[in-house]
Amino acid sequence: MKLPADKVHRLRPFYGGRTICVTGGAGFIGGHLVDTLLSLGASIRVLDDLSNSTLEHLAELIELEPERVRFIRGSVLDDEALAEAMSGASTVFHLGAMCSVQRSVEDPQRSFSVNATGTLRVLQAARKTSSLSGAGVERVVLASSSSLYGDDPSLPRVESQLPRPLSPYAAGKLAAEHLMSVHARCFGMSTISLRLFNVFGPRQTADSPYSGVVASFAKRMLAGESPVIFGDGLQTRDFTFVADAVLAFLLAGFAKVPPRGEVVNVGTGRSVTLLELARAMGQAVGAPHVHPTLQPERPADVKHSLADISRARELIGYEPTYTLEAGLAELIEWCRQSVNSGQSA
Ligand code: UD1
Repeated sequence: MKLPADKVHRLRPFYGGRTICVTGGAGFIGGHLVDTLLSLGASIRVLDDLSNSTLEHLAELIELEPERVRFIRGSVLDDEALAEAMSGASTVFHLGAMCSVQRSVEDPQRSFSVNATGTLRVLQAARKTSSLSGAGVERVVLASSSSLYGDDPSLPRVESQLPRPLSPYAAGKLAAEHLMSVHARCFGMSTISLRLFNVFGPRQTADSPYSGVVASFAKRMLAGESPVIFGDGLQTRDFTFVADAVLAFLLAGFAKVPPRGEVVNVGTGRSVTLLELARAMGQAVGAPHVHPTLQPERPADVKHSLADISRARELIGYEPTYTLEAGLAELIEWCRQSVNSGQSA
């Protein structure tokens, strides 16, 4: 997975030599962000409590780059761990969260506490670094979620429309975004929230009932089983390959005009039904005749989701570089390689 050469050319002089804090850096998107930051020459501090991730990938990076990767095991609710992870950092990428819609339905309190209060703690810790040293964290970038648009029927989603969260998870992310913009307006910090639309790619967990749909489909189809669809399969999503999500984070951290609490959609602008996804994955794995099994719709499930990415283009210069098919091909290739090398895919 590579960044486009023109982007590397612009981003390397900025990130090279910097210290960057990534909360949730042992997780799926965070892990890819850490990889790319390392390739750009940055030093990384990862804060993660490993509640929905493992050290497997990060341990490899630490072995390769012991001087440039530091791991702090702790929660985003732990002020001491936050202070340690942010010391010397100029940018905070805040991805530490309880990231499942379904888990939030089962444990709303925990979801809200980690996602909303956790963001408040991250912001306050970032603010303290500047008051302590004068040269602390310059910008905080939040991984927010397209799920907060909820059941508003208007598509594509534009940032100016009224959010209508359907799950505790979405409500928590909305609160987190407000805390981000309040820290810009009330405390003069540079903050920006990225509303990520269904990110998929290598290393996304496929083993849990909360796994994302692309990872679940890939696992089942590669095992010769039919994918399970909750509902009629006509629900739509805007599937974003993880390299594009990473690119959006890097551009948001880099943007020359300091963001002041803005929110931006990060997707592709293409709407795909789950039935179409199953078909495209059937092609990618070489099993075009596998038919999905339908099961009842899940509670708090959003029916349709599609991003308008005009604001991301304008504010941070974001442009997706992967089609769904190209992303699926890379994912399937990775799954096959990790099965061959005995890793868990
Ligand atoms: C996902 C993310 C969430 C993010 C949001 C918006 C995951 C686990 N969750 O939520 O963090 O904020 O996008 O970008 O990545 N489904 C099936 N079969 C399966 C699994 C899921 O039919 O095996 C269905 C679900 O019921 C849903 C759709 O696929 O209708 C997408 O589900 P999922 O991948 O869990 O993502 P979101 O709920 O959209």
